[in-house]
Amino acid sequence: MLDKDIHYKEEVVSTNSYLKELIESQQLSDGYTIYAGFQTSGRGQRGNTWESEHRLNLTCSILLKPQFVQVKDSFLLSQIVSLAVSDILNLYADHITIKWPNDIYWKDKKIAGVLIENSFIDDVVVHSIVGIGLNLNQQCFESDAPNPISLKQITGNHYDVLKILSLILKRLSFYYEMIREEGDFEYIRNVYKKALYRKEGFYTFSDQQGIFSARIKDIADLGLLILETDNNEVRNYGFKEVKYIL
Ligand code: BTN
Repeated sequence: MLDKDIHYKEEVVSTNSYLKELIESQQLSDGYTIYAGFQTSGRGQRGNTWESEHRLNLTCSILLKPQFVQVKDSFLLSQIVSLAVSDILNLYADHITIKWPNDIYWKDKKIAGVLIENSFIDDVVVHSIVGIGLNLNQQCFESDAPNPISLKQITGNHYDVLKILSLILKRLSFYYEMIREEGDFEYIRNVYKKALYRKEGFYTFSDQQGIFSARIKDIADLGLLILETDNNEVRNYGFKEVKYIL
């Protein structure tokens, strides 16, 4: 079970960076988790910063040692983390989805983000630093992030950060063991597809060539987003190559 090795730091620069440094100096177990009261420079995707007010939200990093996952299957890690977070949020709110590749949305707003930093030896994933930022109790967001929301803004209730972290870790264990023991990758890929934001119907996207209307056709095993445009053209995108227009 991954919820047995949880550590708290009042303040760090970034839990992902902190964990990365710790790995270099110590032998840490699979599932070692650090969560922080505050990050002075929390990191988001695309070099963005991650805003999180003191002690109000979950900002954590989990060390996984998924040597049983090959590089070609490493998107599975992203899928199980997004599923674990969205499954737990589903206990508290409706309309929770996963916006490809691993943002967690409530309706058209972002409630959580995931930053996974993998290291590889040969063709296996030796370490995965799984950073999760989940807005729980914050009620006012000041950065220029376009559409943040917290669980408290949705439900009006206050949430215990450690309790939510423990639930996420238990759920993550469930999926993690599934890929370790049974290698049941197809199950995870299917559940992930079912949980996707805007999984059905045509929406507006933009890529280097401009704006277009398309529907999600599939997610390739490598993690590529496969879109079908309204004139039946199929296009594959890696992360950062396409944007959803909200
Ligand atoms: C995103 O941009 O969607 C990813 C956000 C990830 C934020 C979390 S907060 C805990 C961990 N430490 C960091 O510096 N970033 C991740």
